[in-house]
Amino acid sequence: MVFTVGLVPLIWILIIFPKDCILSQDKELEDFHISLTNLKMTVSKPGVVLLTWDCNVTDDIQKDTKYTVSVRKSPGSEPEENRISTKYFEDKMELHRSLSFNVTTSIKHVELSTEAHYIPEGFNGTSAENFSCVAYNVTFMNCSWVVGREAPQDIQYFMTLRQGETVEKCQHYKKNSFKRHIGCNFQNLSISFGSKTYALIHGSSKISQIQIFDKWFEINKYERLNPPVNITLRQNQQDVIVEWKKPETNYPACDECFRYHIYTDDVSKNKKINVTVKDQTSYQISGLNLDRVYTLKMRARLENLDKNYEWGEWSPSIEFGNTVPSRFYIIVILVIMAILIAVFSILLCQRYEVMQKLFPPIPQPKNKLSDINQCDIDTQSLCPTNVQPSQKAETEEIFITSVEEMA
Ligand SMILES: *[C@@H]1O[C@H](CO)[C@@H](O)[C@H](O)[C@H]1NC(C)=O
Ligand SMILES: *[C@@H]1O[C@H](CO)[C@@H](O)[C@H](O)[C@H]1NC(C)=O
Ligand SMILES: *[C@@H]1O[C@H](CO)[C@@H](O)[C@H](O)[C@H]1NC(C)=O
Ligand SMILES: *[C@@H]1O[C@H](CO)[C@@H](O)[C@H](O)[C@H]1NC(C)=O
Ligand SMILES: *[C@@H]1O[C@H](CO)[C@@H](O)[C@H](O)[C@H]1NC(C)=O
Ligand SMILES: *[C@@H]1O[C@H](CO)[C@@H](O)[C@H](O)[C@H]1NC(C)=O
Ligand SMILES: *[C@@H]1O[C@H](CO)[C@@H](O)[C@H](O)[C@H]1NC(C)=O
Ligand SMILES: *[C@@H]1O[C@H](CO)[C@@H](O)[C@H](O)[C@H]1NC(C)=O
Ligand SMILES: *[C@@H]1O[C@H](CO)[C@@H](O)[C@H](O)[C@H]1NC(C)=O
Repeated sequence: MVFTVGLVPLIWILIIFPKDCILSQDKELEDFHISLTNLKMTVSKPGVVLLTWDCNVTDDIQKDTKYTVSVRKSPGSEPEENRISTKYFEDKMELHRSLSFNVTTSIKHVELSTEAHYIPEGFNGTSAENFSCVAYNVTFMNCSWVVGREAPQDIQYFMTLRQGETVEKCQHYKKNSFKRHIGCNFQNLSISFGSKTYALIHGSSKISQIQIFDKWFEINKYERLNPPVNITLRQNQQDVIVEWKKPETNYPACDECFRYHIYTDDVSKNKKINVTVKDQTSYQISGLNLDRVYTLKMRARLENLDKNYEWGEWSPSIEFGNTVPSRFYIIVILVIMAILIAVFSILLCQRYEVMQKLFPPIPQPKNKLSDINQCDIDTQSLCPTNVQPSQKAETEEIFITSVEEMA
């Protein structure tokens, strides 16, 4: 509704050049003046322009008459030409720019033409600018824009999407600090991502008349696919087989239209796999040293002949390879510790011997206690407890075994 209210008073300038001419070459038409007049532009539906004109030829001439309609969709651009045999022409157009129309025909070798121009209403620079959208997660879309440079202080913008009779009004506006709408989050779009969609942002203000911003586009051109689903890894001896399912999309996309990007690297980023896979939902990764830890992530995009889409979201990273430290490394660490302890003990002993030579122990009078302490030197059987010596022996044995394993 808002849209129609905005467009009804659109100023459009109609300049008509009636070209009357006497078709003297043709005896039958000799007495008639034929004219191409009254070129009119109307907005038949939001974003759709209907051109009509008059050409007062008789019906039998009319059936052979072809009109060339050329439309310049923005100043300075090349006009788009269409050849038709009806006296009207309808097409999707963006109405935030000025448009020029020119209809020409040739009847009995006489050229006729007429022209019309359209200028959007409102003040330049008041419309929403730098409009962009990103569609994601199957039915979601975020759009954003900036407030026009010449927009008045009380400006507010409103956005609608249309596809045929389906209208999606923005429900969740993103606002700037002055509470101006500068974006919209659509959560559950029921319109098709693959068909032409008309986005319209109109502005309201009590101070000045605001220009509209509008755009025809296919949402899927701005779609960021979800990552592939159910990614599984199967580990063989030396290979890893990755399998996945194509991500859910808004509209049915053929299996062959998907491309997948697989990225794998190890923690030290020495070895990486960076491949794009076509037409398949599995991939075999070879040549990795699976004693290391790797991470794998994937993303998807669509591709067909006329369009190259952006890559979608990355999947969460999946770890594979040897995610527990290997026995080999544990043994190496044990062996190094054993060697260090051995070296340290030898050094300690040597130092102790030197000390003993430098400062020989002073002989002391014997007592009962020291007698008992010395017992292990003499005979073990006399000791009060023989636990300690046996513990010592066990510890030594462990270290010795470790050293042997290394060798
Ligand atoms: C066509 O229109 C022009 C001017 O509008 C008029 O002069 C002429 O007689 C008309 N011709 C026919 C065939 O009606
Ligand atoms: C309309 O376009 C034709 C060629 O495309 C050109 O010859 C003619 O001058 C144009 N008419 C006007 C009124 O601009
Ligand atoms: C608005 O801008 C268009 C070109 O973008 C220009 O042709 C037109 O004269 C401008 N109008 C005003 C009122 O400045
Ligand atoms: C819109 O984007 C263009 C180029 O990215 C920039 O020059 C311009 O200033 C932007 N407009 C506004 C109102 O920020
Ligand atoms: C994607 O959409 C589903 C339902 O359609 C929702 O549960 C989920 O939270 C959404 N995920 C994101 C990242 O928006
Ligand atoms: C869309 O907007 C919502 C809310 O501002 C934000 O949480 C989300 O990350 C946006 N998604 C994308 C893909 O930009
Ligand atoms: C999304 O919209 C469709 C129909 O428009 C409805 O059937 C569905 O329940 C909605 N889903 C959510 C999550 O709102
Ligand atoms: C992914 O796996 C889950 C559980 O194994 C299953 O229910 C679901 O259908 C699978 N999705 C696809 C797209 O195959
Ligand atoms: C992966 O390969 C693509 C080209 O195939 C390249 O653009 C991208 O930078 C590579 N990524 C890394 C992390 O090497």
